[in-house]
Amino acid sequence: MQTRENFGGRLAVILAMAGSAIGLGNIWRFPYLVGQNGGAAFILVYIAACALLAMPIFMAEAVIGRRSGSNTFGAMKKLAPGTRWKWLGLVTVVAPLLLLSYYSVVGGWAVDYFMKACSFRFIGDTSGLFGGFISSTWEPLVTHTVFMALTAGIILLGVTKGIEKFTKITMPMLFILIVGIVIYGLTLPGSWKGVEYMVKPDFSKINAQVVATAMGQAFFSLSLGVGTILTYASYMRKEENIVSAGNCTAAFDLLFALLAGFAVMPAVFAAGIQPEEGPGLVFDTLPYIFSQMGWAGTVVSVLFFFSILIAALTSSISLLEVGVAYLVEEKGWSRRRSTLVLAFGTWALGVLCSLSFGPLSGVKLLGVGIFDFLDKLCTNWLMPFGGLLFTLFVGWKMSKADVRDELTGGGTCNRRLFPLLYFLMRYLAPVGIVVVFLTNLFL
Ligand code: PHE
Repeated sequence: MQTRENFGGRLAVILAMAGSAIGLGNIWRFPYLVGQNGGAAFILVYIAACALLAMPIFMAEAVIGRRSGSNTFGAMKKLAPGTRWKWLGLVTVVAPLLLLSYYSVVGGWAVDYFMKACSFRFIGDTSGLFGGFISSTWEPLVTHTVFMALTAGIILLGVTKGIEKFTKITMPMLFILIVGIVIYGLTLPGSWKGVEYMVKPDFSKINAQVVATAMGQAFFSLSLGVGTILTYASYMRKEENIVSAGNCTAAFDLLFALLAGFAVMPAVFAAGIQPEEGPGLVFDTLPYIFSQMGWAGTVVSVLFFFSILIAALTSSISLLEVGVAYLVEEKGWSRRRSTLVLAFGTWALGVLCSLSFGPLSGVKLLGVGIFDFLDKLCTNWLMPFGGLLFTLFVGWKMSKADVRDELTGGGTCNRRLFPLLYFLMRYLAPVGIVVVFLTNLFL
């Protein structure tokens, strides 16, 4: 039996979990989804999805992780020995690796943009940076490799010296950077239209598709359904309060998504650009806007792409840790070997994802390119699927007494809240996820 490392304390747990949650989902995805789905109305639906759907699943994963003190596979073996639940453990070892393969490609774009910003390459160059760059062969491959190497490097250092230390230093820094960028954006003439767009809801924009998108984004943004929260919670000490860790993580995650929105939208409106631009909003539109602002724009773009890079790294390490914990604990591999093997495997798959924008753009899986296929597979299917089974496990398979023990800290806290949480886990969250599935299937 290995001796397991634990996070040092409450703050360490919250920062690591918030580090996993806050990532490309907040800074890259959230602003463009807001732009595509009607602004403030989408934000309200998103907040409801986080509170009613994502939070119970977060708690369910955390309960399983902390109760078992194991990786995803080991957790199922411990809490439901001799049953088929262990397969859920295995699926959630593979899913985060699939996700990491293309996440690292986008992380690589952030590396590239950060370096371009540092060398003042945005000034005067407004010629479709995004389209040209991602479809080239070598450049994105190099930056994908750099990103994966950074991820593996932090994981090699271990839970306390790697994950805990890195997130403790970078998360507060990220907050200061983003707030600074928001303040700068608000000083631009015409930026208030962007603020208005973020706060004035137009409810006519809401339909089933928008609701499903908001639910999917809540999953992605809170890192749910792929075992990352489970694995991090397994490093939580017994005296830590799961409910308050979950609330803090969700609150920080939402705060960062909103801050990213307020960093991006005012600049977009100030430049007179349409917010519906889509995935290129942050990587294409923003450099264009920054390039119009001379020196100040360059400084802000350096800080902005550095923030994206840091946020992406604190998430990618959580994705790699799931598989590493599995190999170390279940197969007896060393941390070094597990990290190197998994990082190499995911890197290789990531190479195909990156090339799918260029030389491999003709390769289609179910009608879409490799990158889009993996993204759809993970966000539309594997994450909700994992989330559904985790809540069903906690709501229907584990004994109520065990779940109560975890959520109320052995009866010392959250006693009044428990019935509501338990109801959400047993009924509302599973039904909500089935709705996401059906919408993805039929719309
Ligand atoms: N939550 C991360 C983000 O917002 C992505 C992620 C998903 C990380 C699942 C870990 C697990 O970018």
